[in-house]
Amino acid sequence: MQKLIIQGKKELKGKISISGSKNATLPILAASILANRVHLKNVPLVKDIFTMAELLNFIGLKTKFIKKENSIKIINNEKNINTLAPYKLVKTMRAGVLVLGSLLTKYKKAKVSLPGGCAIGSRPVDLHLFALKKLGANIKIKDGYILAEAKKGLKGAIIRFPSISVGATENALLAAFKAKGKTILKNCAIEPEIKDLILFLKKLGARINIKGRMIVISGNKIKNTKIIHEVIFDRIELGTYMIASALLAKKSITINKIDPKIVKSEISILRKIGIQIIRKKTSIKIKRNKKLKKINVTTKPYPGFPTDLQAQLMVLLTQVNGISRIKEDIFENRFMHVSELKRMGAEIEIKNKTAIIKGPTKLTGAEVMATDLRASVSLVLAGLVAENRTIINRIYHLDRGYEFLENKLKRCKAVIKRIK
Ligand code: EPZ
Repeated sequence: MQKLIIQGKKELKGKISISGSKNATLPILAASILANRVHLKNVPLVKDIFTMAELLNFIGLKTKFIKKENSIKIINNEKNINTLAPYKLVKTMRAGVLVLGSLLTKYKKAKVSLPGGCAIGSRPVDLHLFALKKLGANIKIKDGYILAEAKKGLKGAIIRFPSISVGATENALLAAFKAKGKTILKNCAIEPEIKDLILFLKKLGARINIKGRMIVISGNKIKNTKIIHEVIFDRIELGTYMIASALLAKKSITINKIDPKIVKSEISILRKIGIQIIRKKTSIKIKRNKKLKKINVTTKPYPGFPTDLQAQLMVLLTQVNGISRIKEDIFENRFMHVSELKRMGAEIEIKNKTAIIKGPTKLTGAEVMATDLRASVSLVLAGLVAENRTIINRIYHLDRGYEFLENKLKRCKAVIKRIK
C-alpha cells in the first residue's frame, strides 16, 4: 500500500501546468466506440483512464497509449465486438456505464454492469435509463446488469431530465448519436466536459446545438471516422492548485495551460475570500493574502461552484477568519474528509447537508486515510498547511484522478514524497 508523506508549512512558489481533464476523457473514450480511428491528445495518465481503455479493449477495440505525448490511439475495426461491460471493470470506475449509450446506438444492444455506489453516495443510474427508454430502448435489470436492446434502432425523442445529471446527459448524447430523427434534451448538465464531448461528436458528424440547458442532436450518419481531438484541461485539478496556492503561496504561483473563463465561479469565490488572482489569457497568477474572510458556499451544477472542489475549499476555510458554511447540494454523503480533517485539528461540524467551519484553526500533521478522489486531495492540502508531518494512506484514490501530483507540488517547493 503506497503512502504520501508531507512536511507541512513550506511556502509554495513557481509554476504548475494543468493536465487534461479525466472527466472529459472518459465520455470521449466511450464515444470512440462510434468511430473507427481516434487519436486523443492531452490525456491525463491516471488510473481511471487506464481502466476505461481496458474496458474498450474488452469490448473489442484496440487502444494504444503514447505516454510521453499524453496521447492514446483507439481503433475500432468492427471485428468481434463484445457489447458487454463487466462488473470487474465497472465496479472500480463507474464511468464505465457511459459505454451503454454508444453500444446501444451503434450495435443495438448492450449488457453493462450496474455501477456500484461509492464513498460519496449511492450513485444511481435511473436518469441514464430514463433517457434511453425515451429513445426506444428496451431495458431490463438482471443479476446486477443492465440489459438494453433496440432491435429496430433508437428513435429521436424529446427528453426532459427531472434533475441535472452529468453522466445521464452524456449517455443520452451518445445514445442519440445514431437515433433516427432529432432528439431534444432538456434540463441538461452543461459542464465544460460535456461541451468537449459535443465537440468530439461534431467531428464525428453529429449536428448538435446547445441553448441554455437544452441540447438538440439530430440523427447522424457517421461521416468522419478518423478523429483527432485534444482534450480540454482539468478544471478541478486547476481549482485544487488554486486553493493550494491560496493556502501557501506568499510570493505567487502561476498556473498555465488553462482558460480562466471556464473557472469563473471558482475565481469569484476565492476573490471574495480575499485571495489575489491575476487572470491572463491562458494562465492565472495567485498569491495568498494576510486577511482571509469567511464565506458561505453551496455546491451546484456548472456554472455553479463544483462539488468536486468542496473538500478542497473546506481546507482553505479552516484558515480564514470567522465561521464559514459549505452546503453540499449534489451528493448525499460527500463529507467523508471532515472526520480526518478534525483529527488534524480542524473545527468543523455537520448540520444536515452543511459543513460549518470555524477559522482560523491551526492544523497539525497526523496519519490519515483517503476515502475518495477529492477527499484524498483535501488531505494533501491539509498536510501542506499543517505543522509537522502528515502521512496519507490509501492514495490509490488520488491516483485515479491527479496526474503527477507530488511532482507538480515538489516543483513548487513542497516537501512531499511517496513511499511504497
Ligand atoms: C460526474 O459524476 C463526475 N464524474 C463527478 O466527478 C462529479 O462529482 C459529478 O459529475 C457532479 O459534477 C465524471 O464525470 C466521471 P451526476 P456523475 O450524474 O455523472 C444523482 C470526480 O471526483 N443521480 O451529475 O455520476 C447523483 O446521485 C467525480 O471526478 C441520480 O439520482 O454525477 C448525484 O446526487 C466524483 N440518478 C447527482 O444526481 C442518476 O441517474 C449528480 O450526479 C444519475 C445521477
